[in-house]
Amino acid sequence: MTTLSILFLQELQQHYPRMKLILLALFFFFLGMNSDVTARRSRTKRELAPGLYSLGMRDAGGSYCQLRESCCPGRDDACTVPYLDTICYCDLFCNRTVSDCCPDFWGYCLGISPPISILKVCTKHGKNYPSGATYQDNCNRCTCTPDGNWYCEQNSCLINPRIIDAVNRGSYGWRAGNYSQFWGMTLDEGIQYRLGTSKPPSSVMNMNELHVNMNNEDLPTYFNAADKWPGMIHEPLDQGNCAGSWAFSTAAVASDRLSIQSMGHMTPALSPQNLLSCDTRNQHGCRGGRVDGAWWYLRRRGIVTEECYPFVGLNANGPASPCMMHSRSMGRGKRQASNSCPNPYSSSNEIYQSTPAYRLASSEKEIMKEIFNNGPVQAIMEVHEDFFMYQSGIYRHTPVMVGEEERYRRHGTHSVRVIGWGREMVPNGHVQKYWLVANSWGKDWGENGYFRIARGENECEIETFVVGVWGRVSMEDVSHKK
Ligand SMILES: *[C@@H]1O[C@H](CO)[C@@H](O)[C@H](O)[C@H]1NC(C)=O
Ligand SMILES: *[C@@H]1O[C@H](CO)[C@@H](O)[C@H](O)[C@H]1NC(C)=O
Repeated sequence: MTTLSILFLQELQQHYPRMKLILLALFFFFLGMNSDVTARRSRTKRELAPGLYSLGMRDAGGSYCQLRESCCPGRDDACTVPYLDTICYCDLFCNRTVSDCCPDFWGYCLGISPPISILKVCTKHGKNYPSGATYQDNCNRCTCTPDGNWYCEQNSCLINPRIIDAVNRGSYGWRAGNYSQFWGMTLDEGIQYRLGTSKPPSSVMNMNELHVNMNNEDLPTYFNAADKWPGMIHEPLDQGNCAGSWAFSTAAVASDRLSIQSMGHMTPALSPQNLLSCDTRNQHGCRGGRVDGAWWYLRRRGIVTEECYPFVGLNANGPASPCMMHSRSMGRGKRQASNSCPNPYSSSNEIYQSTPAYRLASSEKEIMKEIFNNGPVQAIMEVHEDFFMYQSGIYRHTPVMVGEEERYRRHGTHSVRVIGWGREMVPNGHVQKYWLVANSWGKDWGENGYFRIARGENECEIETFVVGVWGRVSMEDVSHKK
């Protein structure tokens, strides 16, 4: 029966070519009645497939049938070419209103323009993308609009290749680079999540300065506390996206000072998390805090080590983690932990305390003398947009973004640990004095986690508010430990 109907149809077709479509439909109707299961399945599948151009034609300029170098007469379910994530057809049967024809079928096979509207596409690296497609360009999301253009957000990014280029082309005395941990963040996010020290209020800013006795002692031209006190100066920390530099710089300076004062009998790496979670009075954990509050806590309550109370790397938007360490008085101002370490594998929950912190005069020489005699100090500084990209050299805030819109020029307050100084010939031939400073952005930032910054010029206000402290170390601490 099938054979007969095909013969019949072929004959009809020869005489009435314009009835082709109707005849084809009849033909398939008959074919559908035959028992060839494979044929029916493929046909059913094709007919149920959604049209490729429900909104308009994508990739109207692409080559499909042309690449295949053939257009199939009549129906040929194998006459296909890959198209986006599906297939398209180059056979005559594809000529339907809701079409599965390849985009170049009309033009290449029929020599006519397509009856379907052409959807505008966006192109990138020679590839076409439909409307609604997105890609991420550093800190900005770009979206393909229906008119075929990419629209990108206009955020100022934390890693700004223009700043990197401008700094490296100029002779500013330092080099800038890209950091994968900052890539994709906006400048505002960097200021919001990577710093985290509030300026002390004027009552604290005006606190009495301790004047170091400057009996005209000669200070070396280069000094690194780690050389004078080997094994007692702690590695730079990593605050991640926690705006808690107030806690990191305080814990770091206190760790070094306790080690130095105990003459290395104890070298605790104190826990910033202990401060972030427990020093909560007027402090905001990973959303920022004040160093005077941190020092108050170190003196009155004390903190445990990083090993006992590890940093949990909490996101600034997440809930604050509750305080998991408390201490009680043992008399004479000394305290002991009243619970065990949050880290169950830690061996010691000993509480470390400090004496009151003291502010140094904003004097280069007095700060140097203090570091030289007593160890690293804490300093508050203003961090500007170019500082995030610091890689090496002696930093100075550059004017490369002067004249740009305000959103490219942001700054925020940070706190760091100054461990020494030096001087070096810079490219323009002049000798530049610098401070050697530990940051808390991990050891793959800057010069192994450190940076050098111009000294004696209050660069970024780094000499404005500098703090030293004594650990509370007794003779027992020195003799019993170790
Ligand atoms: C394809 O379809 C269009 C629109 O339905 C029609 O005008 C045209 O004649 C058809 N072409 C062929 C070859 O059947
Ligand atoms: C910066 O680093 C990121 C991640 O490592 C990389 O994807 C990006 O292309 C780099 N950007 C530039 C401008 O080098």
